[in-house]
Amino acid sequence: MCDTHKNNFDLGKTTADEIEKLFPYLEGISWLGGEVFLAKRFDHLFEQALRHKNIRTNEIITNGLLLTEKTIDKIVANKVKLTVSVDGVTKNIYEGIRKGGNFEVLQKKLHMISEAYSRTHTEAYVLQLNHVVLKSNYKDLIRLPDFARKYGFNRISLMRCIPSPVANNELIENDLAIMGYIKGIMPQVLDRAQKNGITMLLDRFYGNMAFNNGKKSSVQQSQYLDSGCDTNSAESVYGKREDYCSAPWKRFTLLTDGFVYPDCDCVVPAGGFIKQSIAETWNSSIMQQYRATLGRKSGNSLCNKECMKNKYYANNVQKYIL
Ligand SMILES: C[S@@+](CC[C@H](N)C(=O)[O-])C[C@H]1O[C@@H](n2cnc3c(N)ncnc32)[C@H](O)[C@@H]1O
Ligand code: SF4
Repeated sequence: MCDTHKNNFDLGKTTADEIEKLFPYLEGISWLGGEVFLAKRFDHLFEQALRHKNIRTNEIITNGLLLTEKTIDKIVANKVKLTVSVDGVTKNIYEGIRKGGNFEVLQKKLHMISEAYSRTHTEAYVLQLNHVVLKSNYKDLIRLPDFARKYGFNRISLMRCIPSPVANNELIENDLAIMGYIKGIMPQVLDRAQKNGITMLLDRFYGNMAFNNGKKSSVQQSQYLDSGCDTNSAESVYGKREDYCSAPWKRFTLLTDGFVYPDCDCVVPAGGFIKQSIAETWNSSIMQQYRATLGRKSGNSLCNKECMKNKYYANNVQKYIL
């Protein structure tokens, strides 16, 4: 579904050390990879990050398969927002999408997570299930809320598949029969989630679909996401959400291709962290160009247009959905 596995990459010591030195100045970190639990320096970095109380949001997005009892306890004890990708709730569908994944192992790890939460009685925590809707899994959608409830998830994020050479045969948008099916069952999916006490996070695509089809009450329970990245970058540096995406001022995204972007939706890299230091990339000419041109709705050749549409108009769409 994504190309990341083709990058034979791990975070080098120099960059890891540089990241660690930034911890006293950060407000939030999203750890996702690739797969963070495969990274040699992850355990150390994560441990250190937890010591910095200024890092208010620490979140991990993972396939969950490499989680251990020790890591789960650390996540639960520190109320780290944990997101597990579950692209199928039946063995054949899950393993058909998550090549090399094992559904029984996933179930075992999810059980360990829910046990850890019930043991520690953490009051406010976020345990999120990420689900990318595909041609090969759309029939699992209706089972999603009950599966999520069984393992103690309190959020489901439904995401549209981002096109890529490996994902193009999985896109549903041009298949009218599948689109019709999903539109038809969406109200039931939202209702079941609501009954199970689960908040649905919908991207623009599924948000509009839910609004057009769902019962008002369950649509109101859902929240709209700016993007698959779950960012807050639509909130401008000047405090007005509609005006600017603030990612180039506030966020710094290291991807497994060795390049740096303001956010994971951006397409033009602002630098490369294998050859450049983080400080050099943060002040690179491209990063400055992002900042200089973002306030313009035309003449910005760096931004992904679809992303700009989401970021600039997210607030309006949210009002529209609710
Ligand atoms: C790139 S993965 C990396 C983290 C981790 N290895 C995992 O499997 O969750 C981060 C999120 O992106 C989602 N994702 C992967 N390919 C995607 C695609 N083509 N379109 C939309 N989301 C995708 C995954 O399902 C996952 O929730
Ligand atoms: S592509 Fe532009 S609008 Fe989208 S996150 Fe990046 S900087 Fe913001």
